Amino acid sequence: MNQIIAPSLLSADFGNLQRDLQMLNNSQADWIHLDIMDGHFVPNISFGFPILKSVTKIATKKLDIHLMISNPDLYIDRFCEEAKADYLTVHYEACTHLHRTIQNIKCHNVKAGIALNPHTPVCLLEDIVSEADLVLLMSVNPGFGGQKFIENTYKKVRELKELILQKNANTLIEVDGGVGLQNYRQLLEAGCDALVCGNSIFSSENPSHTIELLKQ
Ligand code: DX5
Ligand code: ZN
Repeated sequence: MNQIIAPSLLSADFGNLQRDLQMLNNSQADWIHLDIMDGHFVPNISFGFPILKSVTKIATKKLDIHLMISNPDLYIDRFCEEAKADYLTVHYEACTHLHRTIQNIKCHNVKAGIALNPHTPVCLLEDIVSEADLVLLMSVNPGFGGQKFIENTYKKVRELKELILQKNANTLIEVDGGVGLQNYRQLLEAGCDALVCGNSIFSSENPSHTIELLKQ
């Protein structure tokens, strides 16, 4: 198994962003996960384009941008072109015309992802999963780092894997929230491809070594 490790920058030290990004560049991390929150779709505000532009200048890893915002369609061009997303993920719950939104992202030659909140069932993806390059399953309620992992996620990963196989799709499964050394193996066994880890990496004594352990 070659799991994708996506450290979430939300848990980095923003006073030392260059240092933390360089640590990630020199680590075994595959992607950098970037959480965009608007204070409307989720009850928190994170960061926007000025920070993202600095990140694009320093980061050498793929950028995995997770939009926790209402009306994501308004900003897709900018996240693709200015912020240079490699993966751009929108929430199922925030998109009235999800099929159109996914096509808009793919028009920019950017991989398109769909995120599901903990209460949103996997079966709702039946008619769209084949269009997505990635499905992100939230394993906490979105908005904050450092929360407790919701155990029902294992079941959702298994259901999603089954749906992807049934559709003969190439969609990746990513899990986000409360993921760390204590549960990553179980998630991989359930069928997960990419692990987002914020607190478990940045609050550890040696973040780069923790990433190495998560790759094993
Ligand atoms: C939460 C964000 C996550 C967050 C994960 O709403 O989507 O990406 O940074 O942080 P941890 O790993 O600390 O739960
Ligand atoms: Zn996220």
